[in-house]
Formats: sequence, C-alpha cells, structure tokens
Amino acid sequence: MANTFEYKNFTDEKNYITLCSEVMAVRARGSSPLACIRTYGCQQNVADSEKIKGMLASMGFGFTENAEDADFILFNTCAVREHAEDRVFGNVGALKNIKRRHPSVIIGLCGCMMEQKHVTERLYRSFPFVSLVFGTHSLHKFPELFYNTVTYGGRVYETGVDDMTVYEGIPTLRDGTFKGWLPIMYGCNNFCTYCIVPYTRGRERSRRFEEVVSEARQMIEAGYKEITLLGQNVNSYGKNLEEKHTFAELLSEIDKIDGDYILRFMTSHPKDCSKELIDVIAGSRHISTHLHLPFQSGSNRVLKAMNRSYTREKYLDIVNYAKEKIPGVSLTSDIIVGFPGETYEEFLETISLIKEVEFTSLFTFIYSPREGTPAAKMDDPFSAEEKSRWFSELLKAQEEISARRCAAMVGSVCRVLVEEESKPGILSGRTSGNVIVEFPGDKSLIGQFKDVKVTKARNWILNGELA
Ligand code: SAH
Ligand code: SF4
Ligand code: F3S
Repeated sequence: MANTFEYKNFTDEKNYITLCSEVMAVRARGSSPLACIRTYGCQQNVADSEKIKGMLASMGFGFTENAEDADFILFNTCAVREHAEDRVFGNVGALKNIKRRHPSVIIGLCGCMMEQKHVTERLYRSFPFVSLVFGTHSLHKFPELFYNTVTYGGRVYETGVDDMTVYEGIPTLRDGTFKGWLPIMYGCNNFCTYCIVPYTRGRERSRRFEEVVSEARQMIEAGYKEITLLGQNVNSYGKNLEEKHTFAELLSEIDKIDGDYILRFMTSHPKDCSKELIDVIAGSRHISTHLHLPFQSGSNRVLKAMNRSYTREKYLDIVNYAKEKIPGVSLTSDIIVGFPGETYEEFLETISLIKEVEFTSLFTFIYSPREGTPAAKMDDPFSAEEKSRWFSELLKAQEEISARRCAAMVGSVCRVLVEEESKPGILSGRTSGNVIVEFPGDKSLIGQFKDVKVTKARNWILNGELA
C-alpha cells in the first residue's frame, strides 16, 4: 500500500525563526528572551515540547521554570482524562495575574486539548489573555504562528487542522543528556471507544525507517545511554510505509548499532504484539527486558466494547510466550476500571488477570468520559463511589504482587543506569525491567551504568549497594 501521508522537511519555517529572533531580541525583558514551557500528559507531549524548545532555542530563547520571569509561557496540554483537562484550565487561570504584572508576556497553549473544538471555544470565551493556541498538527508551524502572535498583537488560533504530513528536521532540544525520547510514529488508528487520542493526534503515520535508525545512531554517538522509541502503538510501526518494515525489524536494526546503551519502547498494543517482536527482544544486545503491554480489562465482553481487538486468551498467550523467551521479563500494563456497563464480576476478571500475569507495576485509571468518543454515549450505570471501591481493590491486589516480585529480587545484582541523586548521597536508577533502585553513591556516577546488588525491597522500589 502506498503512503497515505507525505514527508516534508522543516526548512520552510527557517525564515520565521530568524524573524522571531530579531523581534524577541528587542522585546525581551532581560538581556535575552526566556521561555517557560510546561508539559502535561504522555511522552508524546514531552517529545513535542522538546521540539518546541529546539525551535525556541534557535530563536535565541533561554529557558526558565519560573513563569514570572518568562517572556513566553506555553502549556502543552493533555486531554486523555477529565482530570488532565481540569488541571490545565486551573493553571491557565492562574496566569492572569502574571499577564497583569507583565503585559508584554506572551501566553500560549498547545497540544492535545487544543484539537478539541469545545475546549478552544471555551478558551476563546474565558481566557482573552491567551494569545497563541495551536494543536498537535501545527507543531511544525510554530515559528510562523509565534511570529504572527508577536507582530499582530491579537489572538492567533490554529486548530482543527488534519495534516497528514510527517515533518523531519525540526530542531530538538532534549531535556536529558543521557536519556532521550525518539518518536518513531505519530497518531493512532485504533479508535478504542473510550479514547480521545485518535481525534487529537490524527491518523497513524510512521517515520521513515532510515530516518529513525539514523537518529538513533546520532543519539548513541552523542552519548545517550537510554533511548526510548515512542508511539501510541509502536507494534504497528511501518504498516503504511511504501517500503514495508515491521517494528521488530526496526528494533533489530537499531540493536545492531554498537555502543553501551539500553533501548526501550512504548506503547505496545497487544493486538499487534508479534512473536517475532518477542524473539527480537530475546536475542538482542541492548533491548530492555521490560514489556509495557496495556490490557485495559480482563473481561472479553468489556474488551470488545472497548474495541481493543484482542481477547484475554490472546493476551495471555503473548504474555506466556514472552515469559518463556525472555528470562526475567518484567511486565507492566494500563488498566481502566469502570468502563461504561462494566459489572463487578467483569471487574473481578481484571483482578484475576493481574494475579495470573504478576505484573511488576500498573498504571490504573478510573474511566473518564471524553466528549466525542463512542463510550461517552454508552450507559454508565455504576456510581463513582462503586468504581472507586473497585479501584482500591485493584490497587491493593497489585501492591501485594509488586511487593512479592520486588522481594524476590533481593540478593540479585542488576545493571542500572544511574539517573539522579534522589536525596543527598543516595542515587537512583532503573533496572532493565524498569524497577527503581536506590543506593548510596556519588553523583558523579549519574549517566553511567553500574552493577547494583539489591539488599532490600520496599513495595515497588528496591534498595541496594554498588556491587
Ligand atoms: N496507546 C496506548 C495508551 C495511550 S493513553 C495504548 O493503547 O495502550 C494511556 C492510558 O490512558 C490508556 O492505556 C488507558 O488506560 C488510559 N485512558 C485512555 N483514555 C481513558 C479514559 N477515557 N478514561 C480512563 N482512562 C483512559
Ligand atoms: Fe487510545 Fe487505543 Fe490508540 Fe491507545 S491504541 S492511543 S488507547 S485509541
Ligand atoms: Fe494526553 Fe495527548 Fe498523550 S491526550 S496522553 S498528551 S497523546
């Protein structure tokens, strides 16, 4: 099948970068302009913010955590659950006072929430001090939109565009120097009935195979020790490419690059998780032994209503194959409690599944209706209180499993990428299976791989000492 989308290079926007740097050099309150970027939501948004920072850095911007000092404040928003949305609205409201104190500050919003019409309409009505609004499809146009905002003085809104293009070459300023995100695809075609992401991020489009491999190589050469390949459904990578490639091929090609690094990826969808992929992980040199494989519900009826396209049995099949082929594989998952119409008995099937699989840890969510999705129109007879009781039951069941799994690691030696000093003299990092380990050590070790002997387990965190 031919590509249903196009590839373009970012070069067209470079003039706007120059123009913005000229305007901002004069307009900045300090000696050079400062931006404060806040990112909500998932790693897709984190990776987008790194591109926005890359573009801003090319315009001469520096960065600050403190909104009060900034010439430009941008919130990159998430729409996945109601709670995510409320947080953004609350925090935008609080910016009004900053705008009063510093009228020249430019306040902008971007990201998934901005691809929802009811949200942008509410913003336009309630927050006149927000002068730049753009959705996920307009990220590559940021320099032009920013220039228009600064020079026009009114409000610039660019949302609801359905652009089927993959833009390469947008400058990226990564937050970390040894851990980095690498987007391999954008959008999602799955339309799980509860989920807003296909509406906010558009159709699935994979980056070209060679582009991804070459970016991974550059990152490894630049000293990155952990690379995480990103996409909403990485297992379906390559489906729409003219030259067919699978995700397993992509992983295996990157794994061939020499160097001392660990390769991670997220998120995997069970319907596309092939045995070939598990074989590649099992035989690899650099790929983590961690598989994040969201199952959402243990009930086949609920899975069908969610449009997840796999059954409990199929899920267990993959998991058992992974356990057999990848020694010590660490499994994690996302779960939704209280999908419309889910009964307590169906919820108990979720509990029985987590007991059967023995996950390392879970991301658990109470169902949250999203306007415009099919599930939002389904009958939802169970009360918030009931769902919240089930939710606590789930957390309790998983706590015991996590604690047991962590306790079984005591005495073993794990290779850990040292990530940070969590308190003075105590370092922390994660095992290949993505379990956090804390141990005494000097912060000069941050960014290095170290062998750590596990001495104690505290629920889902391990304590250890340098081996
Ligand atoms: N593409 C990934 C997940 C992206 S969203 C996948 O399919 O696994 C991250 C998680 O948020 C989902 O796995 C799901 O568990 C949760 N989620 C998404 N929409 C939700 C909703 N409307 N209510 C509650 N949880 C939701
Ligand atoms: Fe949402 Fe489903 Fe796509 Fe994940 S696979 S982003 S849950 S629609
Ligand atoms: Fe949120 Fe958008 Fe990610 S809705 S979870 S930031 S893709």
